[in-house]
Amino acid sequence: MIKAVHNSELWQRLHSADHGVIIVVGTGQWGKTATVHSLIDSGAFRDRNVALVKYSQEFIEAHSYPDNYRAVPWPDDISDILGILHPSRDVVVVDDSIFIAGARDSGTRENKGLQKLMTIISHNELFVILTIQNTSMLDISMFQSQDVYMIHKNMDVVAIEQERNAQKISQTIANLYLQKKMKDYSGIVHPKAWGYCSTTREIIAFKLPSWWQPAMSKPFKGMVMH
Ligand SMILES: Nc1ncnc2c1ncn2[C@@H]1O[C@H](COP(=O)(O)OP(=O)(O)OP(=O)(O)O)[C@@H](O)[C@H]1O
Ligand SMILES: [Mg+2]
Repeated sequence: MIKAVHNSELWQRLHSADHGVIIVVGTGQWGKTATVHSLIDSGAFRDRNVALVKYSQEFIEAHSYPDNYRAVPWPDDISDILGILHPSRDVVVVDDSIFIAGARDSGTRENKGLQKLMTIISHNELFVILTIQNTSMLDISMFQSQDVYMIHKNMDVVAIEQERNAQKISQTIANLYLQKKMKDYSGIVHPKAWGYCSTTREIIAFKLPSWWQPAMSKPFKGMVMH
C-alpha cells in the first residue's frame, strides 16, 4: 500500500494540532529537505506561512517557492523571536539544524535560543520543523518537549551507531520498513520519497511538490555560516 501524506495519521494529527515540533532525521541527500516541503505542501499546516530560518531572501526569490514562503533571521536574542514570527500564522523551518543547535556546543547563545524556542512553542500556537542528519547532533531539550513528531529517512549503518541510544532502535526499524518499501515499489515510488514516522508508526510516501526544483536542496550553497 502506498500511503500519501494527506492520508496519513501524521497529517490528521498535525492538522488538528495547534503546535508541535517535527524532526526529520536521516543521512545526507536522502530527502529530508524535500520531505519538509512535501509535508507543508500537503496542507497539514493549513494555510500557515512558512518561515525559513537563515535562508537568504534572495535565494527564496530566485526559486519557485510558493508566495507564502519567506526567509527569517535567527535573532541575536531569542526573546525577539515573536517580533519576527507570528506563532499562530507561521510554520518555522530550521533546515540543517546543526547550524544553530549543535549538541556539542550546548552552551552557545543559539543553542540556548533553541531551548527557549521549545518553551515558546509549548506556550504558543507555533509549529517548528527541524532537519538533522543524526539526532546526536541535537540538544536533548528538543526531545523533552511534548508533541514531538519524528520522521525518519534512510540512515546508513555507521550513522546509526552514532545515534542516541533511544533512537537506535526506532531508526533501525525505520530502515527496515523503508528498505522493504523501496524494494516493493521500485520504479513506482522514488526511493527517497519514503519516510517512517515513529510517532504514528507509519510509512508515508512524500512526493515532491509540483514547484520543487533540485536547487532547493542546497539553500546554503555559497553561504558562510556563523
Ligand atoms: N520524494 C522524492 N522524489 C524524487 N526525488 C527526491 C525525493 N526526495 C528527494 N529527492 C531527490 O534527492 C535530492 C536530495 O534531497 P534533499 O535535498 O531533500 O536531501 P537532504 O536529506 O535534505 O540532504 P542534505 O542532508 O544534504 O540537506 C533532491 O534534490 C531530489 O532530487
Ligand atoms: Mg537538506
